[in-house]
Amino acid sequence: MSRVDAVLAHPRFMRELNRVRELERDRRFCRHGLSHLLDVARVAWIRRLEDGLGLDREVVYAAALLHDIGRAEQYDVGTPHDVAGERIAAEILGTVEGEMRFSPSEQAEILTAVRGHRRGTPQPEGELAGLIAWADHASRPCFACAARATCKWTDEEKNLQLRV
Ligand SMILES: [Fe+2]
Repeated sequence: MSRVDAVLAHPRFMRELNRVRELERDRRFCRHGLSHLLDVARVAWIRRLEDGLGLDREVVYAAALLHDIGRAEQYDVGTPHDVAGERIAAEILGTVEGEMRFSPSEQAEILTAVRGHRRGTPQPEGELAGLIAWADHASRPCFACAARATCKWTDEEKNLQLRV
């Protein structure tokens, strides 16, 4: 098992992800389930390879998997999902067992990325936060979205063509 698998298998991660799936069942706009999280992880990692940023693959994947973990709490009680996400991600990362646990500095980097991934919020320091914010946006296939006309994103923000 990798450190990323340990996050995926964490009971709190699974509970939050299942809750998001339930709450977004009828959502017309972008969803935030596992497919999105993996899209962000893979797009971010490809970008990292192309740019040669000095980031660890498991750290990039963990940040991507956790960046929207606060969504259910936002839907339930209105807490901004970056704020809730930072707290929930800290609980998950802090309770992974033994050698599956990310180092304190890696945990801090991941939490900064979770807290800073929303577009329009000032980007905190660190390459990872900017990478996840970029991948979160770039991974959305607006060009194929049935809800495109009523989405809150402006035409300039939408990905109206496939990025190659
Ligand atoms: Fe996202």
